[in-house]
Amino acid sequence: MMDSERLPAQAEEQVIVAKMKALNAQLTTWAQEYYEADAPTVTDAVYDRAYQELQELATAFPALMPTDSVLHQVGGQRTKADLVKVPHPVPMLSLGDVFSLEELIAWQANVVKRLDAAVTYHAELKIDGLAVSIVYQDGQLVQASTRGDGQIGEDVTANIREIASIPNNLTEAVSVEVRGEIYMPKKAFVALNQQRERDGLPTFANPRNAAAGSLRQLDVQVTKSRQLAGFLYQAVEPEITLAVTTQAALIDRLAALGLPVNPASALIRDEAELAHYVTREAARRDDLPYGIDGIVLKVNRLSQQKMLGATVKVPRWAIAYKFKPEEAETIVRDIEWTVGRTGAVTPTAIMDPVILAGTTVARASLHNPDYLRAKDIRLGDTVKLHKAGDIIPEISAVVLAKRVEGAALYDIPTHCPVCGEALAHLDSEVVLRCLNPLCPAQIQEAVTHFASRQAMNIVGLGPRIVAQLLTKGYVHEVSDLYRLTEAQLLTLDKFGPTSTQNLLKALQHSKQNSVEKLLFGLGIRNVGAKAARSIAAHFGDLKTMATATPADIAEIDGLGLVIADSMTKYFGTRQAQKLVDDFIQLGVNTVYLNQINLNEASILNGKKVVLTGKLTRMTRPEVTTWLEAQGAKVINSVSKNTDLLIAGDNAGTKLTKATALGIDVWDEPQLQQQMQSK
Ligand code: IVH
Repeated sequence: MMDSERLPAQAEEQVIVAKMKALNAQLTTWAQEYYEADAPTVTDAVYDRAYQELQELATAFPALMPTDSVLHQVGGQRTKADLVKVPHPVPMLSLGDVFSLEELIAWQANVVKRLDAAVTYHAELKIDGLAVSIVYQDGQLVQASTRGDGQIGEDVTANIREIASIPNNLTEAVSVEVRGEIYMPKKAFVALNQQRERDGLPTFANPRNAAAGSLRQLDVQVTKSRQLAGFLYQAVEPEITLAVTTQAALIDRLAALGLPVNPASALIRDEAELAHYVTREAARRDDLPYGIDGIVLKVNRLSQQKMLGATVKVPRWAIAYKFKPEEAETIVRDIEWTVGRTGAVTPTAIMDPVILAGTTVARASLHNPDYLRAKDIRLGDTVKLHKAGDIIPEISAVVLAKRVEGAALYDIPTHCPVCGEALAHLDSEVVLRCLNPLCPAQIQEAVTHFASRQAMNIVGLGPRIVAQLLTKGYVHEVSDLYRLTEAQLLTLDKFGPTSTQNLLKALQHSKQNSVEKLLFGLGIRNVGAKAARSIAAHFGDLKTMATATPADIAEIDGLGLVIADSMTKYFGTRQAQKLVDDFIQLGVNTVYLNQINLNEASILNGKKVVLTGKLTRMTRPEVTTWLEAQGAKVINSVSKNTDLLIAGDNAGTKLTKATALGIDVWDEPQLQQQMQSK
């Protein structure tokens, strides 16, 4: 840059600081989506580019770097670095694949040629989950890890212990490393996604992602709540550890040890048996309670497996035969636009019902206008449908040959289908949004969120009651909750005098909440419970927050321009300003009840605390909330700057490191004692 073009030093610095903050905030959001939801919204390449850009700025201007930068966080690089790495001395290989019976038979011919002997095979279902390795010592589960890159996986011991079907103790005191697949049953997957949709969280694309996201969790309570299951199908050195000589015997031995094995395996002696197995299992796949994406054919004799060996990546003794994804053709009759809690307006294709992979399908999400445009779906088009991840109907392509002449391009709506307000794309989002906070479609979800535990915690005000309050016209926006009368509540279905009094009491009680609960309850985009607390602590009351500039907000430690922008956009609307006034007028507390100051005497105030290991008496979020209320900062990794490590059961490297660095360590009983004494 030439001198004459250079901005005044101070202005230039401001630009760089703003840029760093924006990148940091963006990367933080992306990292959260990736880690916490296992639902990234950008590709690794996009993430890495932004990460690198921030890294370059940090190198050039180290003094301007935000202290909470993702660059400083373990896991900032979107590897789950917080899960301890576990090497696989015997690598976990993947499988070569074929897509037709002919190729499968050709693969067998090659095996026979290499061995120059007759071969019997063992056919198994190819479970659609994630591979894990579990080590039992003297019959006790001592370690479990994911496949990772095959050489190094991640420690998921505590998580695996929460899976009901995986035993902690084998029926015999053997020492063996077993391998298999962890999966999420189809029903659990559907229920989880429905719940996430209700909670305004991103949904998992398929059961495999859901299983991976549920297992690779620092908080094992999350894993516990997710109904995972597993099938084991392999062991390291099975001839020695389990005294077996064939794959079929191995499966039986695993079952005898109390491990879950898939029942649908079979010995295959000839082509007819192979064809029969493949056809039968392909036909049954939709009836199974879990997803499979093919079958695995293995050489049955372990001695022959040894002779065949493996390439760097895949064994020569096994192959995956992948099922062709089922397809169906149907006609798109309409495109329906629905409005979610965050105002996202999403298109759904309404089609002539057709049977696909065992269910009748008449709707498929089209996600957003870009998707609709990219697929160029027009009304009356014949489309090919498949099921993503075996379960979610998706349009693969338009059958252009069958397009009706003159079919017009579909017009993307410009106004909300429910409230008529103009729609907009926020920033560079592909999602189309209705920004009207009073849009009725958003209100049902918004009111439910407002009443939820982490927000205003209005006990007894669930979605069913909210729906009635809306249809009866008693509530149009969240502040109306505080205008509800006894007479109105008594008209609700199955709502007697006791329920009425209880709800009125809960409403009254919620008025006393500290303002961060109110702020979080407003459901402002990007303003989660934690950000709401920081904002409330910084500004002290709702009016000040509502009139703060983006720069004021971005200044808060740990926040950035993304949140600042969401806040100012939200409070910039007339409706939001009125809402603030209404709360004040209705007697809802809009002030930050300064818990941190109350706890200034807390020995934890200003301390950096790391949590590790398994907590059995309370959940991690509970502990984090308490620590933060004491003025402590909860961080991910142990360094010399850490003040305290709270170590639950089975704490690993973090505990070793903290001890080596002479950092204070509390176990769970010590923590509980502290919590009770406050
Ligand atoms: S055997 C050395 N058997 O499929 C080969 N794998 O696409 C070990 N899988 O990484 C794999 N069901 O995660 C085997 N019955 C089964 C399987 C199975 C699912 C997975 C496994 C593997 C992947 C390869």
